[in-house]
This record gives sequence, structure tokens and C-alpha cells, in this order.
Amino acid sequence: MPLLALEHMLCPLEQYPLHRDGKTWRCSNNHCFDIAKQGYVNLLPVQNKKSLDPGDSQIMIQARRQFLDSGAYAPLAQALATTVAGLCKDRNDLAILDAGCGEGYYLNTVCNSLLAAQAELALTATGLDISKWAVRATRIRNAGINGLVASNRQIPLPDNSQDILLCTFGFPVFSEFQRVVKPGGHIIMVDPGPEHLIELRQQIYDEIRRSPPASLAAGINSEWQQSSETALSFSTPILSAALFEQLLIMTPHLYRASKAGRERAAKLEQLALTVDVCIRVLSHQT
Ligand SMILES: C[S@@+](CC[C@H](N)C(=O)[O-])C[C@H]1O[C@@H](n2cnc3c(N)ncnc32)[C@H](O)[C@@H]1O
Repeated sequence: MPLLALEHMLCPLEQYPLHRDGKTWRCSNNHCFDIAKQGYVNLLPVQNKKSLDPGDSQIMIQARRQFLDSGAYAPLAQALATTVAGLCKDRNDLAILDAGCGEGYYLNTVCNSLLAAQAELALTATGLDISKWAVRATRIRNAGINGLVASNRQIPLPDNSQDILLCTFGFPVFSEFQRVVKPGGHIIMVDPGPEHLIELRQQIYDEIRRSPPASLAAGINSEWQQSSETALSFSTPILSAALFEQLLIMTPHLYRASKAGRERAAKLEQLALTVDVCIRVLSHQT
């Protein structure tokens, strides 16, 4: 079955329901949001933009696409797909939101894997990102994914509308995440562990911090508890100079590095990197 189109969204200006009217989404107060030719909707109000072109730039998104398409992070995408499948056994319908979807690699892999296992699954997948370049790229990767330019700070989706919310190397806003996830639903967080890309960091920083994954305390309360934690560590294949360049463009490392660090980074090639991540699930307690 093809991926399903979103039926309900909220007007970002007044939170009234939006209804699709041809190539536009419209609320009862007549605020209109056109569907772009790539099929996504921009629901980021100008007053919520901190810059003219918020989020990852076009160049960062292109670099992320090329790097991820090399398969260097494929074990992570597969682990995410396995996690989602384990949480959604015996479901006939499912709504998944990737909040901060980037160029759509992980959401696309999860959708393909779910549909390969259960072709009749009624699956609604939504990729949300504050970067229009990210959402465009997600739609180009998979035109069945609903594309929303919006912020995690104000997700233009109704309360209790999603079964699963993914946040991969993203910017969690737990109050919003928990508002849009249904009772009994799950939030899957992917965060870097202490050894993540350690070989790269050793080259470009003078001092290395081996920090634990970000705290999830802000997302834990009487209704939401952490239900699992999986540490995933693997080595990428040996990366070419071109892949190193893309990796550096798509992460903040290059911008944080010293001049000497940037010079060392520019010479990197033929090196495998450690990927060390933590996949944690927060589950709503019904
Ligand atoms: C480190 S990238 C991760 C992208 C993707 N999840 C992945 O792992 O490939 C972070 C993404 O979050 C987006 N982003 C930044 N601030 C955001 C916000 N407030 N709401 C939604 N997305 C945001 C950026 O545009 C970028 O695409």
C-alpha cells in the first residue's frame, strides 16, 4: 500500500484545524498555506523564524544526502527500523513523525522496512524540519512522505495524532513531542555517545570531551517513562576524502574546530570512523 497523505494539520497562527482545499491548506479564519511544487507545506510563521533561511542550509543537506547515501550509517538506520517494528507489532495502521528529519534518510528506511514486512500497513509518515531544503530533499527521496516545514517548538499537528515520533540527532522539545503522540505511543531518541566519531574529533579538536548522551530528564514525568536503551557502536567503512568533506559539512565539527584542526581535517581520508550512538525510547504509560 502506498504511504498515506496527512488529513489533519493545525494552523500555525491560531491552532485551528487546517483543511485541504485543492493546492492549499486553509483554516476557518481563512489563513492559507500553499502546497509547494515539491509537495510540502511551509507552516513556519515568519515571526517564528530566527533567520531568513533557518535550519540546515542547502549545502549541508546536499552533503548529508551524499554522505548517508554511501551507507556509512546504514546499521543505525536498520536499528531504528527494528526498534520501530518491535514497538508496533500487530498494527494495521501507523502514523510516524520524524521531528527534524533532515533529508529523510532514516524515515525513508523505517517506512521501507515496515512496508516490506507488512505490505498492507496503512502508514502515514511525516517529515518535519525547520529547513525547507531538508523537507524538499525528503520529498525528493520519497514523495509518499508528508513534508512539513515547521519547528519542533510548535508542531502543526493535532494532539494525540502520532504513534511514533523519531528524533535523530535532533533538537527535542518534549512538551510538543508528548502533545502530538497518542496515549500508549513512543518517542525514539537517537543521540551521540562518548566515542561518536572519536577519530575525527581527535584530529580536529585540541581537547576531546567524551560526554554521555544528552539527558532525557526533561521528557520523563508521571506519564512518560524511558522504556528501553540500546547502545549501538560500529565502524564505518573506510571513508574517502570526499566522504570526509561531506561529513564535515553536515556536522557542526568543522565550524567549531581551530584553524589547525580545520587544516588537519582537510587532509583526512582512508580512515574508518567509530559510530557510537544511544537509541532510547520514551513510552507513554497508559
Ligand atoms: C543534525 S541534523 C539531523 C537530521 C536528521 N535527523 C538526521 O539524523 O539525518 C538536525 C536537523 O534539525 C533541523 N532543525 C534545527 N532546529 C530545528 C527545529 N527547531 N525544529 C525542527 N527541526 C530543526 C535542522 O534543519 C537539521 O535538518
